[in-house]
Amino acid sequence: MTERRLLLATTNPGKIREMRALFKGLPWRIVGLGEVLPGLTFPERGRTFLENARAKSLFYSRKWAGLTLAEDSGLEVEALDGAPGVISARFARPRPGDESNNRKVLRLLAGVPEKRRKARYVCVIVLSERGRVIKAVRGEVRGRIAVEPRGTGGFGYDPLFYYSPLRKTFAELSAEAKNRVSHRGRAVRMMRGFLEKKGQGPGR
Ligand code: IMP
Repeated sequence: MTERRLLLATTNPGKIREMRALFKGLPWRIVGLGEVLPGLTFPERGRTFLENARAKSLFYSRKWAGLTLAEDSGLEVEALDGAPGVISARFARPRPGDESNNRKVLRLLAGVPEKRRKARYVCVIVLSERGRVIKAVRGEVRGRIAVEPRGTGGFGYDPLFYYSPLRKTFAELSAEAKNRVSHRGRAVRMMRGFLEKKGQGPGR
């Protein structure tokens, strides 16, 4: 029988909720690791977002009969040679967290003028089935690092990520406005388009 559940390789309930909303209407129910493969973990050791998302997606797709989706994302700051990059979530060692990560970015950029504070968010999503990659997509959004945090929405580096077309940081945008332009929104729309076609075809 065809598996009608799509595994999202994360234990983060926020991500599961967000992805369920973004993939609404597709003929799969999104389930998290806690529901179908509890206790199984995979260490992220890749040097790029693609390496991490791909390795994670393949690892779990070998343990699960249906489709598996894995995501890796983060912030790259040009003046920091692309840091924090793949270690975005744990940048401020030994106590990483949104606030300490943001403080570290601001400290490293102290005195750097506006035009050299360019940054981008990247999101890579990889879809696999039984140890084979079916589709990989990458979304990006360009902005710059503000000189101080602004706004209370979003998460992570959003209070620092200034998006000049809207003249706001991502933390000053509603969830809908952020999704329309964000790296994750872009990547998800590409993957959704692919899944819509797949959902209609015989390979479902
Ligand atoms: P992941 O859960 O390993 O993919 O970690 C991604 C990390 O990148 C997050 O913990 C944040 O620090 C950062 N990040 C990725 N996407 C966003 C975003 O949309 N806003 C703010 N920070 C983000």
